[in-house]
Amino acid sequence: MIHLSPHFELLRHLEPRRLAGTVRSCRGLAFVVDGLRMPIGATVSIEPRGETHAPVMGEVVGFDGGSAIVMALEGGHGIASGDRVIGDAMPAAALVGDSLVGRVIDGLGRPIDGAPAPAKLRPRALHPRTINPLLRRPVRERMETGIRAVDSMLTLGRGQRLGIFSGAGVGKSLLLGSMARHCAADVVVLALVGERGREVREFVDGVLGADGRSRSVVVASTGDESPLMRVRACHAALAVAEHFRDAGRHVLLLLDSLTRLAHAQRQVGLSAGEPPATRGYPPSVFASMAKLVERAGSIEGRGSITALFTVLVDGDDLAEPIADTARSALDGHVVLSRALASKGHHPAIDVLESVSRTADAVVSPAEREQRRVLRRLLAAHRDVEELLSIGAYARGSNPDADVAIALRERIDSFLRQSTEERSAWSTTASMLAELCAEAETLRAKLASSAGAAAVPAMPRAAPQIRRQGAAPHAPAAAAHLAAVPPREGVAA
Ligand SMILES: Nc1ncnc2c1ncn2[C@@H]1O[C@H](COP(=O)(O)OP(=O)(O)OP(=O)(O)O)[C@@H](O)[C@H]1O
Ligand SMILES: [Mg+2]
Repeated sequence: MIHLSPHFELLRHLEPRRLAGTVRSCRGLAFVVDGLRMPIGATVSIEPRGETHAPVMGEVVGFDGGSAIVMALEGGHGIASGDRVIGDAMPAAALVGDSLVGRVIDGLGRPIDGAPAPAKLRPRALHPRTINPLLRRPVRERMETGIRAVDSMLTLGRGQRLGIFSGAGVGKSLLLGSMARHCAADVVVLALVGERGREVREFVDGVLGADGRSRSVVVASTGDESPLMRVRACHAALAVAEHFRDAGRHVLLLLDSLTRLAHAQRQVGLSAGEPPATRGYPPSVFASMAKLVERAGSIEGRGSITALFTVLVDGDDLAEPIADTARSALDGHVVLSRALASKGHHPAIDVLESVSRTADAVVSPAEREQRRVLRRLLAAHRDVEELLSIGAYARGSNPDADVAIALRERIDSFLRQSTEERSAWSTTASMLAELCAEAETLRAKLASSAGAAAVPAMPRAAPQIRRQGAAPHAPAAAAHLAAVPPREGVAA
């Protein structure tokens, strides 16, 4: 079925007159152009008079009386006062089409992978109207990612928007890469924004690999490009994803990183004359972030866009304004822990700090219960971790902790996964069920050997901590656990 709405969307914004203005002055990264009455978001061409300089594409980012504030999409060298600026009759659009699959393009849709220009592309609005909330399809269907820790503990649904939060170098990009390769999506659209040039190449060749590339569209804008180009690359990636969604496909959109997009948007806002507000970010940063995130989702009668955004958390501070805004706008967050990464536990997902708000809607009651059991064990282990490390935890004092300690290696190896490994949901589900059954058996064993009164099954008993050497609360349970080989660094 052909959807005409994207075409009407473009026609709605069509500028019937060709407008021109003159560069008056330069204001930071922007130019003040007299006489150019074009709306914000309009594309323009700045024409330097010198023959050595080619026309430069730009965008209207603000206005002041009869003057427009224009930013160049590419380097503004050669632009001088008095240069002509021609407004484009077409609204800002991205060129989209099925032939983009397997390709790497820049923010203007030009291929940067050395292959010929993709064929049969159609323009699509870069900034479409917001989706009518009543046309949105609720998140009801599981989106398999192939990553055990995510599929079991933070199940994703088609159309969900999730953030991946961590400090620098903890594994956000590699986790995105694994998802791009292993997830059950028809098409993957990757926006690499503000990366170093070297990282883009490494990501495309190394992380994504030939397999991942064959069903992906990569839109890349490196940190040395203009901030406007970086912002445009994100919107272009969304437009590509919307094209496939409208064709009924299930799309996984990955944006690395939302923080670098916010930095670019901050530069654009400040150049347009906005006042800096929260930590130097002008208000438009937060408004545009919310708008961008809202473009993902499922629409009745069409496909879906499931979106993952990485968020750099400075100094692991989750209250930082970008992280905070992202957390409230998204349907969940995956927190990566530096402590886990430094132990070589990858993906370094801190399950207890992470939430998938739509997970309950896409899993069965049995799976929900299994997830609860595993979370409870992880929480119990975390509660006694410090005592364990100094050998001050007396086994037998907390049944959940005792089971968690005994199963710790098993739980860790369930949650750990190499980037090459894809774990099908059927495998993950049976591993999870097995782990939970084992926890139950162990708990029953401990209860029977310690006496039902000493080890209640429910609810969770408050931990009773004793110094090593003191008489344990349940001597038989302690004896049983002593038989379990202790983990490295854990006093038996
Ligand atoms: N799943 C993994 N398996 C093995 N090593 C990993 C894994 N994830 C991350 N690492 C290690 O962590 C390093 C940083 O990973 P990555 O580039 O994904 O971090 P990042 O959070 O995206 O960093 P930045 O904030 O700089 O973008 C990798 O080079 C690798 O050494
Ligand atoms: Mg990264």
